[in-house]
Amino acid sequence: MERLSNAVGYVGFGGYVPPTELSNADLERIVDTDDEWIQRRTGIRTRRILAEGETILDMAVRAARAALADAGVDPAEIDDIRVGVNTWLRFPSLAARLQEALGAPRASAADVSAGCAGFVYAVEQAYHRILVEKARYGRETIALVVGVDGLSHITDWTDRQTCVLLGDGAGAVVLRHVPTGGILATHTHADGRYGDVLWSDCVLSGQANGSPKTFTHETTGPRAYLHMDGKKVFAVAVETMVDDVLRVIGKHRDATGERIGIEDVDYVYPHQANLRILEMVGKRLGVPIEKVYTEGVVRYGNTSTASIPLGYWDNRKTRGAGRLEVDVAFGAGFASGAILRRT
Ligand code: UT7
Repeated sequence: MERLSNAVGYVGFGGYVPPTELSNADLERIVDTDDEWIQRRTGIRTRRILAEGETILDMAVRAARAALADAGVDPAEIDDIRVGVNTWLRFPSLAARLQEALGAPRASAADVSAGCAGFVYAVEQAYHRILVEKARYGRETIALVVGVDGLSHITDWTDRQTCVLLGDGAGAVVLRHVPTGGILATHTHADGRYGDVLWSDCVLSGQANGSPKTFTHETTGPRAYLHMDGKKVFAVAVETMVDDVLRVIGKHRDATGERIGIEDVDYVYPHQANLRILEMVGKRLGVPIEKVYTEGVVRYGNTSTASIPLGYWDNRKTRGAGRLEVDVAFGAGFASGAILRRT
């Protein structure tokens, strides 16, 4: 068997957004808002929304199949499936459903819930597993990581502060050993103290929620809606994303002695929450906006865990080799994280 390198990286990309578009003009008919406000405050022009009968699993399957085809990997070869998702809200996990749909019988499968940083967390976990399997057992591991969310399922369409922001989509990558480059460092962090600044309701009844049994079966009742204090989230998001980018670069520098700094970064993929956040993060870091992925928020709105891998998918035709790139995400639970990679 060929000796495995110590490098682990992306070898395939996939993405999917539903065909149904919801424009700012459409939203003007739903809530008291206007295209000018939405574009000025968020940069968003349109977003894609799941149609009746279309599911979060459908999006995950399409993105995953595209990534596997791009990587030239058969589903039967996958060892590990991880899905960053916040809107599945049931069990078995979306990853288990995806495993069945793809026909990947030997893969382990689990979801990762870390707000909009779910994809970054899932990549970090898959990366660590691939490294450990190799170091401990000399085994190659192939991982499929998906970021997918159907935020339209938890959108309060009477709340103009949030409904204009959210969209649906999926992105996927295949990870395995690569000859050189790949992931150089990861950093993740959370701050649960901000749990009531960006949150969703619990869909469970009091009974299931841990309070004394009531022996009732409620068929109607509370459903999950996203709630957010946008201003508070905005301020902490900018600060945290800047900090995470600098930390992940510093982590790699300290571990290897490679003299790299933010000026060496060729491209940044931030979570696509708001164009103003992306502009401020770029400015604070001293990275020109041309080197920051921003098209996603304009075209798809905030797709939560899907936004970073959808960015890879969008840019797949212009990707070069040997580029230094950083991914950075921030979301509910104030879970955040960054990945430093060489393409
Ligand atoms: O993905 C997870 C992380 N999420 C984020 O990072 C989102 C972070 N937050 C944001 O992107 C922004 O805070 C928002 C886009 C949500 C809001 O922008 P803002 O500049 O912070 O606006 P604001 O909430 O301070 O509202 C300003 C005004 C208010 O009116 P008054 O009180 O000044 O008269 C709002 O009622 O804009 C009003 N407003 C709207 N007007 C038209 C709020 N939403 C809308 C709307 N259309 N959709």
